[in-house]
Amino acid sequence: MYNTKTIDLSIDFENGVKQASNYIKKDELVAFPTETVYGLGANAFSGDAVAKIFKAKGRPQDNPLIVHVDSIEMASKLAYINDDARKILEEFWPGPFTAVLKKKDIVPAGVTAGLDSVGIRMPSSDAMLEVIKRTRCPIAAPSANKSGSPSPTEAYHVENDLVGRLPLILDGGSCKYGVESTVCDLTTHIPLVLRPGAITVEQIKELTGSVEVSPNILTPLLSNEKPTSPGMKYKHYAPHADVFVIKGEKKSLVAKTNEMYDEDIANGDKPVIFCFKKDVAYFGSRNVMIQGGNDNINEVAKYLFKNLRDIDNLGYTKVYFESLPTTGMGLAVMNRIIRAAGFKLILVK
Ligand code: TXA
Ligand code: MG
Repeated sequence: MYNTKTIDLSIDFENGVKQASNYIKKDELVAFPTETVYGLGANAFSGDAVAKIFKAKGRPQDNPLIVHVDSIEMASKLAYINDDARKILEEFWPGPFTAVLKKKDIVPAGVTAGLDSVGIRMPSSDAMLEVIKRTRCPIAAPSANKSGSPSPTEAYHVENDLVGRLPLILDGGSCKYGVESTVCDLTTHIPLVLRPGAITVEQIKELTGSVEVSPNILTPLLSNEKPTSPGMKYKHYAPHADVFVIKGEKKSLVAKTNEMYDEDIANGDKPVIFCFKKDVAYFGSRNVMIQGGNDNINEVAKYLFKNLRDIDNLGYTKVYFESLPTTGMGLAVMNRIIRAAGFKLILVK
């Protein structure tokens, strides 16, 4: 057990980075804020340090980690980068974009779960970049949640999940995007999006001319299907409550949501409806959670995981989400929501 400390970077940036660098050099874990979600970091060159990540999170051993670097140059020590891939990295780094590339031997097998590719990202987080620069260690970091919980977008989410399991959490406030990075396989002839994020499919297509999207982003894996990314196999982002996604024309969608809600109440359940502020009136005096001021999908993304955590904290047993358009950031949002719902989609006319 560790006596976990949290350092607020807005007050004590230098001390935070210094202590984090010392822990990383000693093969200990540090939780870092990034622009996507908080990451649970360790020296990617050390098999021992990496093993601690899996233990602290309770993460399945066959789910590979993303390695964070401070430059394309550092990435090129870990993986083979051809001209096409370089052009993509130059455009999207630093940022919420993870490139899956053919790995070099220097990357320990524990990081990649034995795959011959490695996921690499250059984040735009000042603290993490500074620690990578000072230690010269690339940092392997999955999201800093307990395996199966929503990714943390606030330092206290990390504390709630992992206190006692690591020595240090760096608090950088709320994460800018709130959903994890876009994971894109660049080992294929055409870039293949494995997990959608804030770098959108449209942006990748505009840069490269063509892009493919994994079929499992919005639909479940069939039992005999091999996942394009190991992370897809696992149940993710699932609150204890029963979550439903309702899709259809607004009027019937509202009627169906209200009907199900009222049945829940009659059955002694505690339901809640996720909606935009502008839509609150449709649901009368029913319990709602606001997922953004208006139709701003970036706001929905930013608060999505916090809202999913709050569902459990507030004891809701049934949750209704309106299906949102899957363009741009909408694909990342619906990818997380449909998983939280265990793929329960209700279609109304
Ligand atoms: O935004 C993010 O990506 C955050 C921050 C901390 O950087 N990290 C993150 O890591 O979300 P994690 O471990 O929670 O999710 C990594 C995903 C998993 O679904 C994993 O299966 C996939 O990336 N992945 C990693 N390496 C891969 C590889 N070589 N091939 C295919 N998928 C890979
Ligand atoms: Mg994760």
